[in-house]
Amino acid sequence: MTASYSSLKSQIIAAIESASDLAALESVRVAELGKKSKLSEAMASLGKMTPDERKSAGAELNKVKEEINAAFESRKNTLQNVAMMQKLQSETIDITLPAPPIARGKIHPITQVIDEVTAIFAAQGFIVAEGPDIDTQDNNFTALNIPESHPARQMHDTFYLNAKDEKGLDLLLRTHTSTVQIRTMTKQKPPLRILAPGRTFRSDSDMTHTPMFHQIEGFVVDESTHFGHLKGCLIEFVRAFFEISDVPTRFRPSFFPFTEPSAEMDIGCSRKDGGLKIGAGDSWLEILGCGMIHPKVLENCGIDSQKYQGFAFGMGVERLAMLKYGIPDLRSFFGGDARWLDHYGFSACDVPSLAGGLSR
Ligand code: PHE
Repeated sequence: MTASYSSLKSQIIAAIESASDLAALESVRVAELGKKSKLSEAMASLGKMTPDERKSAGAELNKVKEEINAAFESRKNTLQNVAMMQKLQSETIDITLPAPPIARGKIHPITQVIDEVTAIFAAQGFIVAEGPDIDTQDNNFTALNIPESHPARQMHDTFYLNAKDEKGLDLLLRTHTSTVQIRTMTKQKPPLRILAPGRTFRSDSDMTHTPMFHQIEGFVVDESTHFGHLKGCLIEFVRAFFEISDVPTRFRPSFFPFTEPSAEMDIGCSRKDGGLKIGAGDSWLEILGCGMIHPKVLENCGIDSQKYQGFAFGMGVERLAMLKYGIPDLRSFFGGDARWLDHYGFSACDVPSLAGGLSR
């Protein structure tokens, strides 16, 4: 090989080899292989040679170029690997760092139970309705067949407000969610299938009573509704709610002014060593009040009681929550203790549904 080609080659390859990173290699490429480089000059000088000279010099120069290209590619490869290694090392994740805090907060058992009961009755075609906490004596008592002189009014330990309704009667805090029966039936025409959860108030406070508590009211009004429908609907409900398919049930005769006949529903349980277990056993537990809507209540709402019948039921939410989730103290529900909620509360991601499981 011509001496000048040979020294040009070693000079360029030395420059390539000494490039310490990809940027330096790129500068070498521009300087040594670019248009103004010595290599390009040598290529240009081929044109001035005789054909014979050009033939041997051209072949030599091509070989030099090939070797330089190979050296360049190999250096590029090495430097790319080095760059990759450096990147990987600088980007390592420190898994000993503590995890970032996750969102705190739990669903209160009251909310959970209302959602569970709603999911069950929604599957039976019930629609949720709500009424206000403050209501009239008409909606809470009179229209529900509890006249002024009726002893049931005293039994309810009502909170009356220092404010009057249109008739000049004191407003009150509703003592039960049955007000929603009246509110719905005076505004909507049957067939009706309504579920009404909400707050209720009675002036009562001890181990088993808080002045504010929650009820869920349900009622159905249609042309051929009978007590069998009431039983079927509620038996289906307790099975789904307690997630025990063969829980025994019984209906005991009872009295409510707004239903006739009236009943209280019990579920089977066993009591051993102070513990309570729901399911077939030697004992019974009262779970809710129910009955066929009194014809007078239908008439009070402008519904023809010759044509329509209905059934209604009402249950205490705290009681259901205590029974299902083994919460011993009623007053703890409203203590606002974050540790209590952390223990008895539910994850916000577990939305109760019949398909997905009511409680997990
Ligand atoms: N309102 C009744 C109570 O608070 C419960 C009930 C509702 C009973 C509907 C029968 C029908 O005790």
